[in-house]
Amino acid sequence: MRKHIVAGNWKMNTTVPEGIALAKAVVEEGAQVPADVELIIATPYPHLYPVAEVVKGTRVALSAENCADKEKGAYTGEVSVSMLTSVGCQYTILGHSERRQYYGETDEKLVEKVKLALAAGLKVILCVGENLEEREAGKHFDVCAAQIKNVLYNFTAEDMKNVVVAYEPVWAIGTGKTATAEQAQEIHAFIRKTLADKFGAAVAEETSILYGGSCKPSNAKELFAQKDIDGGLIGGAALKAPDFIGIALSF
Ligand code: PGA
Repeated sequence: MRKHIVAGNWKMNTTVPEGIALAKAVVEEGAQVPADVELIIATPYPHLYPVAEVVKGTRVALSAENCADKEKGAYTGEVSVSMLTSVGCQYTILGHSERRQYYGETDEKLVEKVKLALAAGLKVILCVGENLEEREAGKHFDVCAAQIKNVLYNFTAEDMKNVVVAYEPVWAIGTGKTATAEQAQEIHAFIRKTLADKFGAAVAEETSILYGGSCKPSNAKELFAQKDIDGGLIGGAALKAPDFIGIALSF
């Protein structure tokens, strides 16, 4: 049985004290969530160390939002995977559309980042998804397949045990527009098939595929009821503990 996961992506929001308070609320309110749903919070870099103290020994796992594509050295402003593991991170998000769009994150760079993250013992939440123009041109399947192939096809079935995929249509992120449950299911099934083509059906069946893009308590139930939707990557609604936990209670 693949894991149900609800991951909060805080993006560039909250100060450190606000982040600590939010993490405490997530830990407290998260107690209501059934144990088979994994809760993850991905925080900005400066928050990781103090938030790791808050979530230590609880059911909430800690994630970064990115990592460097180099191991260490003269790369001003970057944060390495060993820095992340040293503060207690278990996951990192990689390839978020905001990083692809605003910071020139390419599939080639992502291959390096995934390699370093997995080698350091971090689990990876790899984001894929099409923009509005690509969706309207009917290219969403091709775009997602290319992102999966360019990055994940460089890895092994064994590596895939530590990879979660997040499908996030760019047109649905922070816009209030959600993919319909049918639209999301259709592409999740396609992503699983794309994984099966390379790694085999058993590995594809075990890989959690999350939906992201304006997911909130009011629409999570319908999305999570779909066969191939194993949870959510939550942006805006992850900044309020009751909303985030409300989503996690939607399975
Ligand atoms: P959103 O963001 O929930 O605010 O749309 C999702 C994401 O970008 O991970």
